[in-house]
Formats: sequence, structure tokens, C-alpha cells
Amino acid sequence: MADQHAQTGENSRLTEIPAIRWEEPPEGPVLVLLDQTRLPAEEVELVCTDASALVEAIRSLAVRGAPLLGIAGAYGVALAAARGFDVEDAAAALAGARPTAVNLAVGVRRAHAAYRAELGKGGDDRQAAEAALAAARRLHREDAEASARMAELGLALLDELVPGGGHRILTHCNTGSLVSGGEGTAFAVALAAHRAGRLRRLWVDETRPLLQGARLTAYEAARSGMAYTLLTDNAAGSLFAAGEVDAVLIGADRIAADGSVANKVGSYPLAVLARYHHVPFIVVAPVTTVDPDTPDGAAIEVEERPGFEVTEITSPQVTMAGAGGGIPVAPLGTQAYNPAFDVTPPELVTAIVTEKGAVSPVTAEALAELCDRSRQV
Ligand code: MRU
Repeated sequence: MADQHAQTGENSRLTEIPAIRWEEPPEGPVLVLLDQTRLPAEEVELVCTDASALVEAIRSLAVRGAPLLGIAGAYGVALAAARGFDVEDAAAALAGARPTAVNLAVGVRRAHAAYRAELGKGGDDRQAAEAALAAARRLHREDAEASARMAELGLALLDELVPGGGHRILTHCNTGSLVSGGEGTAFAVALAAHRAGRLRRLWVDETRPLLQGARLTAYEAARSGMAYTLLTDNAAGSLFAAGEVDAVLIGADRIAADGSVANKVGSYPLAVLARYHHVPFIVVAPVTTVDPDTPDGAAIEVEERPGFEVTEITSPQVTMAGAGGGIPVAPLGTQAYNPAFDVTPPELVTAIVTEKGAVSPVTAEALAELCDRSRQV
């Protein structure tokens, strides 16, 4: 399967390449990803024939965002099983590819458990591989359903917290269909507001250093016909001060049992700003992002990314020059602090919206009850 380039140009509609899909050509099953490192300039597919290619795609952020990482992890186990690789090794490598988004480990665990259960029942390798694939497909479907429900609940909450419609929403990183089996988490809420005619503006943080906001959220907002404006991350303060933000909507990579929220670095400063300016700070995430085994924010492992992502502008579209392959923007040898995520304490979060309901105020008890309820249905 060769690289597929979409048409671009002012009037052309962009193609509808899904973020992830399973295919079974005669040469054997493959997992096809939309390479997110190449967006928005080109829509290029990345074809993974084994789990190690998928691990690399996860590390390079070709595939990214918490819910999609879960789906990818599950398909990765199915791929290893279907192609006769060592499933135990593949599952361990996939689960450890990135540490913060708990969905990745959850997705891997689900497909791996289905695989093992089938073997435990006396099934052969082929049946076990089919069971892993069925588990991955189920997770993919459930995530799409969760996404639709979060959009509904999130919009209802937004209307309640910010009466009068005409919402001006600030978002950070990328949380739309590129990270989901459906239309995403926080972005899906903004999209629902747009469709209902109640989105005045989506403020899109560019999201340094890898520009998930500028490259991906702006791409999704443009495709959806939303009124959106891109800003540098550090312009958010003056936007709040000018009274231009009605609500902040973000996703999450992991929510600890106490309600601490790990999300893309830069989320915590937004929460502080939102509190100072009396603006609701709303987190939208499926229940699979809530991790009862992580007691609090301090227990969340925050991924440290390579320094060159900060000291260089890296993108396949720029001339290759620096040690990381990008254009240097700092003197050679400069050290960089580059955590991929930060942690917002629960007291700064107005509400957490999941597909099973919203929690506000955010307390350990309310979250535990929500998780219990979701296990019962
Ligand atoms: O490093 P990334 O691009 O994988 O980070 C993604 C985020 O931080 C998203 O905001 C988060 O996964 C929520 S996506 C619904």
C-alpha cells in the first residue's frame, strides 16, 4: 500500500482518511494509520505490519491522543497475534511505548486478556487472534459511542454553566476525530456546540512544542467549518483578561483517583488562568482515562520528551539541519525541559465529563462512584 496523498487546495474537500483502520489484504493483516506527524500539509498513510512498527509510530506521535492510543494498542496485540509474533512481548512493548496515557495500557490489556482467555478455553492460535481482534474492534466501537455521549453531556453542561449560548471556547492540544474512534472528547463538545449554532469561536492554543493545536486542531476545525482562531500558548492570558473566553475545554491522558488530570503540557497554566478569571475549566474524557490505580497527581508518570523538540523546529516539511533533524532555534548544546504533560489538581477542575455522566465538583468519592456505575452497566 503506497503513501496516499490527499488533494489539497483552496476549494478541494480533504479526503476522509480515518485515524486508524484494520485491513486484511492478501499479504496478511495490517494496521493503517493516518500519519499525524505529516498533517496538515499532507495526508499520508502509515502501514504497520507488526507491533514494533506500531510502537515506533506511537513514540513518534504518528498515532497519538489518549483514546486512540488505547485503540491502537488493542489492534497492535491483534496484529501480533494474527501474524504469529510473540504476543506477550508485543503486549509489553506496546503498553510501555508511552507512559502517561493510561488508555494505551488499558487497550493492550483488553485485547491481551481476550487472546489469553481464548487460549485458556482451548482455542487455537487463530481463534485467539480472532478474539483479540474482536476485543480491539469492540473498544474502537465503544470509543465512538462514548464520544457521541460525551458531546451530548458536555454541551448540556456548557449551556448550564455559560447560559446565553454563543460560546467562546478555548482548547489546548488536539482532541477531535484524530484521537478517537468517534469525534473525540473536548473537540466533540465544541463540534456539538457548532452544529447547534451555539459556538461563537473556538480559540485554539498552538500547543508547543509539537503544535498539535496548530497542525491538528486547526485542521479539524477548518474541515468542520467552525469559527476558530489560533493563538500562541502564551497569548491565552491576555485573551482571558480581555473577557474573550467563556469556558476552557480540554481532554485528558490520565485522571487519577483523586481527580488530578494529566493532559498536554500547558493545560495546568490554563486552569490557573481560568480560576483567576472565574471561567469554567472542563475536562472531557472517557471513563477508560480514569485510573483508580493511580491515587493522585504525584503518582502520574509524566513523559519526558527529547530536548530537540524544543531547541529545534521539527517537521517533515522543514529543511533538515539540527541534531533532531529540524531547524535549530537555540544555540547548539542548549538543554531543554520538555515534559509532554502537566497535572492539574482537582480543585482547579470545574467538571469532568465522561460518557457515563459528569462529576462536579471533582472529588475522589464522586469519581469512584462514577467508575463503579460504569462497571455495573
Ligand atoms: O502527546 P499527545 O499529542 O499524545 O498528547 C495528547 C493530549 O494531551 C490530548 O489532549 C489527550 O490525549 C486527550 S485526547 C482526547
